Amino acid sequence: MTDSIQLDDTCPQPQSAAVRELLASTPTKELFINGGYQAAASGAVLETLDPATGKTIAHIANAGQADIDAAVLAARTALTGPWAQMTPLERSMILLKVADLIDQNMDELCELEILDQGKPWFVARWAEIPAAANQFRFFAGQAMALEGQTLTPSVNYQPPGKQVQAWTVREPVGVVAAITPWNSPLILTAMKLAPALAAGCTVVHKPAELTSLTALRLAELMTEAGLPAGVLNVVTGEGRQTGAMLAAHTGVDKIAFTGSTATGRAIVDASKSNLKRVSLELGGKSPALVLDDAELDITIPGVANGIFFNGGQVCVANSRAYIHRSIFDKVIEGIAGYAAGLKLGHGLNQETQLGPVVSQLQAEKIESYIQSAKQSGATIVTGGERLGSFGTFIQPTIITGTNNKMPVHCEEVFGPVLVAEPFDDINDALKWANDSDYGLAGSIWTQNLSSAQRLSRQLEAGTVWINTHSMFDPSMTIGGMKQSGYGRDSGKQALDNYLEWKTICAVI
Ligand code: NAI
Ligand code: MG
Repeated sequence: MTDSIQLDDTCPQPQSAAVRELLASTPTKELFINGGYQAAASGAVLETLDPATGKTIAHIANAGQADIDAAVLAARTALTGPWAQMTPLERSMILLKVADLIDQNMDELCELEILDQGKPWFVARWAEIPAAANQFRFFAGQAMALEGQTLTPSVNYQPPGKQVQAWTVREPVGVVAAITPWNSPLILTAMKLAPALAAGCTVVHKPAELTSLTALRLAELMTEAGLPAGVLNVVTGEGRQTGAMLAAHTGVDKIAFTGSTATGRAIVDASKSNLKRVSLELGGKSPALVLDDAELDITIPGVANGIFFNGGQVCVANSRAYIHRSIFDKVIEGIAGYAAGLKLGHGLNQETQLGPVVSQLQAEKIESYIQSAKQSGATIVTGGERLGSFGTFIQPTIITGTNNKMPVHCEEVFGPVLVAEPFDDINDALKWANDSDYGLAGSIWTQNLSSAQRLSRQLEAGTVWINTHSMFDPSMTIGGMKQSGYGRDSGKQALDNYLEWKTICAVI
């Protein structure tokens, strides 16, 4: 099986003239502060690579304290400027325009994302970039639907002849630091910016150092859409420097973070200085429970796609599968067949179904999980090898014979690696599924609606899918239980991250 998973290492030219120009000039991209671009005060830059080839495609600024100070000051000034004076309708119209501009620049944004991150064309073009536009559309509507409450107080010490009336309003939490990861850069950025702006906040965004190009381009499009200067600022740079300085900055009121659990903990520590509000969308080890009556025609491709989509670099990926013993061999054979049929290649090749993982470091990390599983006696059913001149392609991999003590079974691998185990009793499978520090998502594959309903309530996860996995919509909120984080992205609930309640109480 392994031998049949091969790499096509041809790399077509980008369609977009802007991206061809980028590749020809390998520019240095500057920070976006107060409506314009500027170099880091120190002049420091980082290389940004195409992970499929290891070639440098651009440089980005490595922002330091002076740059963070400038960006936070711009965001704080903008908080009470023209942005605050706009009606909800005016803010909404800008967000709708941002969505239209994303659509109008679709090829460029897709190709930038592919070159920077490695993802296949179909992932960028048919899933993530249009979904980014739709986050802005959804929250454009929400911007006009913010509401408070009228209260019914029973206060009995008002002056004679007077009444007490009270109500609540919702106000923007202030300056938001949005810190985002590299797996799905533009959509995860949109999931922070759209609700933050709908709530009336201003933002300093720190994209991942591996994938900052679409965030910088989005800032330009947002300016074109009419966003006033300073409402969105983008500071690029290393997490342990730029990210840490931003997270600690006392001019920031709120941190909205997506990334690893370890960095999430560092962010909570950094928030303590001025008790910033924090929301965290962290890792996962999401289980798929495949019951004996599952419809295999949808279960096999569904579970396979749930782990191999975007190379498994998806926070909700179903990286564990617990499959009823009566169908275990059949399902594993089916997923292995699906894996063998995947076309590995450069994301710009429209046939590609599996691209490289984001970096050498990530490839090494994934490989070390596979090696350690092998050493512990697990069985590699298919895959397990790195491919390509730069070594960042990893074959889709299925591992059986693991247990919850093995790192590959209990830690987030963030690669195209599925661990799968058989069960006899669904209550055992449920126990294994919940025996995890994580609680981000899970899926149940069955034709029995009662089993699906019962298990969906028993799984410890922020999202449970039934007969599908990794299905997203702006209306559906996403977020974690346990160490997968707190707070929710997407859906109406995301607004709660960016709004404070204010109570107003009057004697009239
Ligand atoms: P990370 O969590 O360190 O990076 C996410 C973002 O945080 C990036 O923008 C980074 O620059 C920033 N950052 C890093 N250190 C920071 C700090 N001390 N203060 C403030 N910001 C900081 O993720 P990393 O190290 O790139 O990936 C490691 C593992 O994390 C992956 O192998 C994967 O398992 C997991 N991960 C999970 C993601 C998810 O969506 N749940 C996304 C990306 C990574
Ligand atoms: Mg890159």
